Amino acid sequence: MAHDPSSTGDHIRFDGTALELLDQRLLPARQHTVRCITPQDVADAIRDMVVRGAPAIGISAAYGMSMAVSRGDDLRVAAETLKAARPTAVNLAWAVDKLLALPPEEIPAAARAIHTEDVRINRAIGDHGAQLLPDDARVLTHCNAGALATGGYGTALGVVRSAFAAGRLQRVYAGETRPYLQGARLTAWELDTDGIPCTLLTDSAAASLMAAGEVNAVVVGADRVAANGDVANKIGTLSLAVLAKHYGIPFYVAVPCSTLDAHTASGAAIPIEQRDATEVRGFGEVRWAADVDVVNPAFDVTPAELVTAWITEDGLWQPAEGQDTFGPV
Ligand code: MRU
Repeated sequence: MAHDPSSTGDHIRFDGTALELLDQRLLPARQHTVRCITPQDVADAIRDMVVRGAPAIGISAAYGMSMAVSRGDDLRVAAETLKAARPTAVNLAWAVDKLLALPPEEIPAAARAIHTEDVRINRAIGDHGAQLLPDDARVLTHCNAGALATGGYGTALGVVRSAFAAGRLQRVYAGETRPYLQGARLTAWELDTDGIPCTLLTDSAAASLMAAGEVNAVVVGADRVAANGDVANKIGTLSLAVLAKHYGIPFYVAVPCSTLDAHTASGAAIPIEQRDATEVRGFGEVRWAADVDVVNPAFDVTPAELVTAWITEDGLWQPAEGQDTFGPV
């Protein structure tokens, strides 16, 4: 079995000049690295999904800002270029704006700190979340909110990793996540590499699995959580939340505080990325659909009322009146 570079954070490497990104488009078949030497290269890599997942694109953009400092680029132009790469994940703008507010000489160290801090944050999310799961946890997750999507360890998969370490995880059910197959290509690979029991299912099999009592918790990540608790995450998350409600299964959202967006009142105001029709008409070189119109929203919004708990590094977050307050798990 191939070593999974994401578990040690090797999937995002910055040497002060170049950013090396493990190309997530090719996984798990090939481990190939893309080298970025300008902020524009980093923005292209984010837009083209070389690197994806809300915290991971925030970290990559932070290194793009660090690069801009060492190259003597206009920092405002670099910031706009990076922020325009993908619209939904708030971590991207959060990381760039945080660095832009600093004196330029402080940006490189602050960019590195965003990366290292993310791993600590994910471990804390994992430990808080694991306490919410039953002793025989059978967790359904969607997309990839794992080490690859973050600086390491993962958010939703951080909860899974902590539960596994505590001996409380029976199995992870990984939805394949059409159309880009992050569940099939990335989550299944990460878990298999770490020896965590994982069963892959088609997205359309989730309802029958829940009806059969096979799932006792759903745990997902998020690209943005609005001030009222609405959650933007990978397309298909909303269907799982509706199903979980119907079958009385807790639905947890595992997020770093950098994904909480106090400036966006509700999910209705979250920009949803629309992606290319080719992603739905086929995959890679293979094409299976005729040249018909395609709708390909990359994310959907799950209303707060369907969420059992939002798990952050500081404990459970409360939306609305309790916004910005945390309670112990
Ligand atoms: O389009 P992607 O692959 O970037 O979408 C990723 C997700 O939807 C993840 O669930 C989310 O970013 C959380 S990652 C910890």
